[in-house]
Amino acid sequence: MEGIEYLYELCEALPRCVPGDNEFTRRAFSAIGKAAKQPLILDIGCGPGVQTIELARISNGKVIALDNHQAFLDKLMEQARNEGLEEKIIPKNMSMLKMDFEENTFDIIWSEGALYFMGFQNGLRRCHQLLKDEGHLAVTELVYIADNPPDAVIKYFESEYPDIDNIEGKIQEIEKEGFKLISNFTLPESAWLNSYYLPIEKELPRLNKKYEGNETALGVFEGFRNEIDFYRKYSEFYGYEFFVMQK
Ligand SMILES: C[S@@+](CC[C@H](N)C(=O)[O-])C[C@H]1O[C@@H](n2cnc3c(N)ncnc32)[C@H](O)[C@@H]1O
Repeated sequence: MEGIEYLYELCEALPRCVPGDNEFTRRAFSAIGKAAKQPLILDIGCGPGVQTIELARISNGKVIALDNHQAFLDKLMEQARNEGLEEKIIPKNMSMLKMDFEENTFDIIWSEGALYFMGFQNGLRRCHQLLKDEGHLAVTELVYIADNPPDAVIKYFESEYPDIDNIEGKIQEIEKEGFKLISNFTLPESAWLNSYYLPIEKELPRLNKKYEGNETALGVFEGFRNEIDFYRKYSEFYGYEFFVMQK
C-alpha cells in the first residue's frame, strides 16, 4: 500500500489500532469461563498490545504476541516491562499468513480487529487447526448491526471491506468452520470514539503540519479523517462484534 509508513507512524502514536477497550477484552475473556489453569494464548495481529497486556494480567498463562510490525512489538514489550508482565508475554515477529506453530497447540487464540488480514473464514479455519480440542477463539470483526443499511454505507464497504456481513451471517461462518458460539456482543460507540478515533483526531493536526506538501502522507491522513466522519454519520449501521467460540 502506498504511504504505509505514514499509516504506521500514526498508529504507533495511538494507544491501540482498532476500536476496543479493556472492559470488553475482560468481558470476552470471562465468557470463556473454565479454561485451562495456565492457558497458552496466541494473540494474532497484537499491534501495540493493549489487549495483550490485559490478557497477560487477567489470565494465569502465557501470551504469544504475534505481529509483523516490529515497532508495535517493541512498544508492547516496553509497556509489559513497565507493568512487570514481561515474563508472561513472548513477542513474535511473524506474518499471520505464515504461522509455523504445530496444530493443536493453543488453549486460547485472540484477535481484536486483525483476523480479516487472513480473510475471516480462512482465519477461522487456521485458528481451528492451531487450537487444542475444546480450545477457545475470541475475535472482533466488522459487521452490519442494523437491517437495511443505506446505499451510501453498502457502497462504502463494497470498496473498504467487501467481506462485511450481518451478525447472523458471521455466526453461520463460525459454525461452518466447526466452532460453537459461546457469546457475542457489539462494541459500543465509546470503544470507537474514546479508544480509537479521538486519539487519532488528536494526532492529525501535528502530522498534517509535519508532512505539509507531501501528498502521499496527507492523503493517508485525510483517509482517516474521512473514515471518522463517515462513522459519526452512520455508526448506527455498522460496528465491531466480539465473537467468543469453542472448537
Ligand atoms: C487493526 S490492527 C489491530 C491491532 C490490535 N489487535 C489492537 O487491538 O490494537 C491490525 C494489526 O495486524 C497486524 N498485521 C497486519 N497484517 C499482518 C500479517 N500479515 N501478519 C501479522 N500481523 C499483521 C498489523 O501490524 C496491526 O498491528
